[in-house]
Amino acid sequence: MKKNIEPCYYGDYLQLDKILGAQKLQSAKYGEPAHEETLFIIVHQVYELWFKQVLHELNTVIDTFNQETVKDQQLTQVVLRLQRVIQIQRLMNDQIAIMETMTPQQFLSFRDYLVPASGFQSIQFKRLEISLGLKREYRIDFDQQSFYNRLNDDDRALLEGLEKKPSLFELVDKWLSRMPLLKTTDFDFWAYYKSAADEMLSDDRNTIATNDTLSDADKRQEMKDWQSTRDNFDALFEHQQYETLREEGKFRLSHEAMLSALFIKQYSEEPIFNLPFQLITALTEIDEQLTIWRYRHAMMVQRMLGTKIGTGGSSGHHYLKKTTESNRIFLDFFNMATFLLPKHALPTLPDPVRKMLGFYLN
Ligand code: HEM
Repeated sequence: MKKNIEPCYYGDYLQLDKILGAQKLQSAKYGEPAHEETLFIIVHQVYELWFKQVLHELNTVIDTFNQETVKDQQLTQVVLRLQRVIQIQRLMNDQIAIMETMTPQQFLSFRDYLVPASGFQSIQFKRLEISLGLKREYRIDFDQQSFYNRLNDDDRALLEGLEKKPSLFELVDKWLSRMPLLKTTDFDFWAYYKSAADEMLSDDRNTIATNDTLSDADKRQEMKDWQSTRDNFDALFEHQQYETLREEGKFRLSHEAMLSALFIKQYSEEPIFNLPFQLITALTEIDEQLTIWRYRHAMMVQRMLGTKIGTGGSSGHHYLKKTTESNRIFLDFFNMATFLLPKHALPTLPDPVRKMLGFYLN
């Protein structure tokens, strides 16, 4: 590191003249400056700054996974950066409460001046979604065209270019798929797993069948859910069946990636799985925090607008609530809990396999 020769001045370094001079009220243009519009602008600007930081972290993570091999040292850095992203997301979720100190009526005093601008046009938010893996085909119907139609040509071209690049989801899927762990041994782990799963599922079925507190209708419903879990389990051990369910949208991870992730989750305490487990946990958390943001934002919108439409032309609260349920990225990491077996039901791993999973110096 070189010695600094020029004195640095706080305000110049942070370019505060630009940042603090960037709150221009729309309402002032029409002669009636609305007090709360300053809050509205600042809260949005702060979000955009945090989006910038999140993208800064995420892009390096994507670059790391976009290589033939990912070294352990790099994985440590990836996990640290994703944990930073999660902390920022938590803060962003809390910031909604600051916006909610504005009453709906105060909002109405300047809202109409904002048309047709909208969060739809937050390019950084859309970059974030797309980079994580929310490409066009995974969005809800309205969302597939809606925001693209509201962008200027440059922004649309930028996002369409990003759609063509591999997302973090795709790269992590590839990385998990090429894990060699399950292919270097004669030990048939999945055959053992299947028989343990069969036992667990038949216990579950029995519990439903003998539960006298359930009405006939409830019992039928629980049996239907049980059958769907059974089908998903069967697909886990049958490549073609898995692919069929994947095409129907029941899974998004490739079959190989799903099995690797499951193995990592089942044996997360094994030294070699420590970082991969932290990675999967961090991605799960990122999806959860993003979903919480969507939910809190939708609730805030309901509070401010009721059932009014948004300035960007969507149905407002109704549309946003739908994205909460549907625009998920790492959902498989959540649903994977369906397939987890209790520790006692797992096979004792043969010595050669254990050795591969630990750090043995001799
Ligand atoms: C009074 C406060 C707010 C209201 C009433 C509001 C309203 C809305 C509405 C109705 C939409 C749907 C699109 C449309 O038809 O316009 C939307 C989308 C969006 N808003 Fe807000 N919003 C508020 C605050 C914020 C804040 C503080 C942020 C922070 C950046 C934000 C970011 C977004 C984003 C990123 C979208 C796109 C979401 C998506 O397409 O899934 N909004 N907002």
